Amino acid sequence: MVSCQSTRRPDTCHGPSPLVIGTPLNAGTPRCLGLASAKIHGTHAMSTKLDISMRPTQAEFPATRLRRTRSAPAVRALVRQNTLTVDDFIWPVFVRSGEGIEEPIPSMPGVFRRSVDKVVEAAREAADLGIPAICIFPYTGIEERTEDCAGAWDSDNHANRAIRAIKAAVPEIAIMTDVALDTYNINGHDGFVENGEIVNDRTIDALVKMTLSQAEAGADIIGPSDMMDGRIGAMRTALESAGHHNVMILSYAAKYASAFYGPFRDAVGASGALTGDKKTYQMDPGNSDEAMRLIERDLAEGADMIMVKPGLPYLDICRRARDTFGAPTFAYQVSGEYSMIKAAAHNGWIDEDRVMLESLMAFKRAGCDGILTYFAPAAARILNG
Ligand code: PBG
Repeated sequence: MVSCQSTRRPDTCHGPSPLVIGTPLNAGTPRCLGLASAKIHGTHAMSTKLDISMRPTQAEFPATRLRRTRSAPAVRALVRQNTLTVDDFIWPVFVRSGEGIEEPIPSMPGVFRRSVDKVVEAAREAADLGIPAICIFPYTGIEERTEDCAGAWDSDNHANRAIRAIKAAVPEIAIMTDVALDTYNINGHDGFVENGEIVNDRTIDALVKMTLSQAEAGADIIGPSDMMDGRIGAMRTALESAGHHNVMILSYAAKYASAFYGPFRDAVGASGALTGDKKTYQMDPGNSDEAMRLIERDLAEGADMIMVKPGLPYLDICRRARDTFGAPTFAYQVSGEYSMIKAAAHNGWIDEDRVMLESLMAFKRAGCDGILTYFAPAAARILNG
């Protein structure tokens, strides 16, 4: 155990420590644990901040009055630990067939299904606001869905056409995709269904084809949201073999079987289509350690970044992921989270802008590098002043 001067902040000290999380600390002795090497579930998390073990040193009242640093906007700005900026956002958008269409989604006020030309306009607007990335989700009508899900890797599907069109018109914005079969599947599942079972390995072959078609269309970040086992390794190998060395994978590593996705399933046309639930592949909301195993596995298979989804109800998972792995960590503030804020604001029960920004700041506080959020343009407009 390394101890440090009481005048130094705990997180500025260096040196290995045998600390295992849960070790009781002598509160009277200042400890230097900020950069400890901790053994967390078999993983050596070097240079990881362990806020859990910080013991800030402070004098007795009235020498210490914590309200001093809250007394004026200037001081509050100085001591603010986390900040929210436009750089933190990935904006999910829905693309559909047709031209000149911006179709409102009733369960997600302010969100639209756009035809490719309109998605390009939206991407232009996002880039002008400084939003670094856009994430494309296809909406498909029931007539576009098949059992073999062949639309998913059709180089000419709405999503791939949108990728090409955005790349041509708005080259500065990063494009993320969705890899899962649900929007092309007759039964709304993320994988193939055989005799009532969502099959893993055959689905991976399809996900790999989908990945390659998106990379060929010009996607920068592939977003597998399917939760099949082994897909990250298969996708990474395929991308490398096809020469897409710089195409990133942002793995939906810890994705829970959540009721908060309700409005999204309306948005992509999957609500009516879905038979049963997704509990055999998405995570049980009661589990936390399993999320760490999934994230570790996906990173080991070659994910560049990882995601926790949904967002606000799972901030504990974001924090654990950040502290344990230190990889670029994202959260998805999903449709249900968005729509709840919109609905309460619509009723005059909360202040929409303030709740929006506070909810987004929560992700930064929980250790996220960024947030997928439908609020991205609205928040950007406020943050840009
Ligand atoms: C589908 C997918 C879902 C979301 C993103 N990709 C829904 C689901 O798993 O059924 C949810 C996003 C949201 O609710 O905003 N693979």
